[in-house]
Amino acid sequence: MKAQIAVLPGDGIGPEVVAEAVRCLEAVAARFGHQFSLAEAPVGAAAMDLTGEPLPASTLALARSADAVLFGAIGDPRYSDPALAVRPEQSILALRRELGLYANLRPAVTHPAVYHASPLRPELLAGVDILVVRELTGGIYFGEKTRTADSASDVCAYTTGEIERVVRLAAGLAAKRRRKLVSVDKANVLETSRLWRSVVNRVMAAEYPGVTVEHMYIDAATMHVLRRPADFDVIVTENMFGDILTDEVAMLPGSLGLCPSASLGDGRRGLYEPIHGSAPDIAGKGIANPFGTILSAAMLLRHSLGLDEEAAAIERAVARTLADGVLTPDLALRGSAAATTRCAGDAVVARLV
Ligand code: IPM
Ligand code: MG
Repeated sequence: MKAQIAVLPGDGIGPEVVAEAVRCLEAVAARFGHQFSLAEAPVGAAAMDLTGEPLPASTLALARSADAVLFGAIGDPRYSDPALAVRPEQSILALRRELGLYANLRPAVTHPAVYHASPLRPELLAGVDILVVRELTGGIYFGEKTRTADSASDVCAYTTGEIERVVRLAAGLAAKRRRKLVSVDKANVLETSRLWRSVVNRVMAAEYPGVTVEHMYIDAATMHVLRRPADFDVIVTENMFGDILTDEVAMLPGSLGLCPSASLGDGRRGLYEPIHGSAPDIAGKGIANPFGTILSAAMLLRHSLGLDEEAAAIERAVARTLADGVLTPDLALRGSAAATTRCAGDAVVARLV
């Protein structure tokens, strides 16, 4: 097949990890007979340095015209003051919003070869396969913000339609997995959560009778995902709870660097990025973990291009790479030799069959 992929490497370790994911996509294209045309554009601090804007119109236009977007990371110590009016983070928020990517899929799958890297005991990690579906374009992130000298506010608002569409997407995924959906909210306190809960109940009863649904408060959920992670299948939650919960869940596989994500809307076009940030402290050293970005490329093949077999091939190659002990410093046992970003990418490409 032919596909257009927009590549936005961004800042810090973004370009290094994206380069390895691009090599995997090129290897898949060669091996399976596809034609991917990749076009790169600046985003984040890299774009601010070039144009003054974190998301130049030309970058947004490229993303809009592509079948899928492969994104690296954004953020730079030079622009880390939260009071700045123009910040690299605005680029990813604007991209999600402009492309209508309302559902963020963040899977966390554990691999026995790297149990040692997780803060949890191995007996808790066996069989963990969680998919968090985070609402991505609503809630407190995008509500009205006000600020005076001595007060500030951020509005958290949701409409029925915004809740329905993300719940349907999550339930549809759960139906193809272990058919268990946990909806996370704070319905004992928040009105948006009470609306969320009633929409979940209505949609699930009417459209997904084969999927069991359980409601959990966000505070309890943060505890249960650590205490009994293997019990969870799909979790659906609003934007801010999802932001926090997914960083926590990402600790189960052992490193933020291992975790991919897909941001989807109504069409096939999606944005794919590792869940880690730009890690300026290790940028340019060639030691960043590329697996999260490579696994994001696998999600791109599956969700935007419909290439399930190719996606599974990348996932198998990453699992074999880990099993063979090719580990970047964030995953390697203390004192043992670690692989560079490039070596890790080479190892995945070599195992792609
Ligand atoms: C994430 C990040 C972003 C978010 C930041 C960079 C705006 O933390 O993708 O989880 O809060 O959504
Ligand atoms: Mg986050």
